[in-house]
Amino acid sequence: MIGGAGGGSLMAISDLHVAYAENREIVERLRPESDDDWLVIAGDVGEFVADIEWALTLLSRRFATVIWTPGNHELWTPKDDPVQLRGEARYRHLVGICRRLGVLTPEDPYAVWTGHGGPVTIVPLFLLYDYTFRAPGASKEEALAQAYAAGVVCTDEFMLHPDPYPSRDAWCRARLRETERRLQTRDPSIPTVLVNHFPLVREPTDILRYPEFAQWCGTVETADWHLRYNAATVIYGHLHIPRTTWYDGVRFQEVSLGYPRERHMYNVAGMDAPRHVFPDLSHA
Ligand SMILES: [Fe+2]
Ligand SMILES: [Fe+2]
Repeated sequence: MIGGAGGGSLMAISDLHVAYAENREIVERLRPESDDDWLVIAGDVGEFVADIEWALTLLSRRFATVIWTPGNHELWTPKDDPVQLRGEARYRHLVGICRRLGVLTPEDPYAVWTGHGGPVTIVPLFLLYDYTFRAPGASKEEALAQAYAAGVVCTDEFMLHPDPYPSRDAWCRARLRETERRLQTRDPSIPTVLVNHFPLVREPTDILRYPEFAQWCGTVETADWHLRYNAATVIYGHLHIPRTTWYDGVRFQEVSLGYPRERHMYNVAGMDAPRHVFPDLSHA
């Protein structure tokens, strides 16, 4: 798919968490600025399949193109969700819903944005994490024990089932290999916009309030992907710390909406709206 030639904006948001009524109201108000706008959604739309479908249906009717990649929350299997699929089967079910809605996923051919800032190949990534963002020198088991001792254990340990893989890190490794293979097929002359729920580099996790949480936030295997895959910008969420930073001269945008209590605490203007990827307003 190629689009945006008439101008328009490439927008991005993540962590809609529509189970919260206040977030649902924000999503209901969320509209493009022009008919040519595309929206990238970098995961954590919600936990219940019906909630995820509701949000993606609404947004896919408003934006010219919507591109989604899952967060950890979409991959939970809540006990009271009528859809009890786990792991890979749950992910494939969500991809099927997206296909019906015309929403692009990590399983589809990469779209090329040719509007402002283009051409760029938009690459939605589903990579998960492998616990390698843990404290230096600690084993995976020691880092998990430290998290339990600190009372900072990600709910994924109980709700995100990796079936049919033996572990979440094994699923992550499979996704990394498959994604590397897919990335080889893109046109290397066109820069990319890499979209992943988790940060591709570890540095954004350095400011987490609870450092033990970093082990659920990415993988060291992607540390050079922004260079290896010629990224014009990298989009991520998950941390619920919206900001723009640069690594090796590449712009990284954390685009989360996050939880209502966090927005009330930070009280930063623009947190309840999609962020511009292109045109690039970061220096404005
Ligand atoms: Fe989130
Ligand atoms: Fe998340």
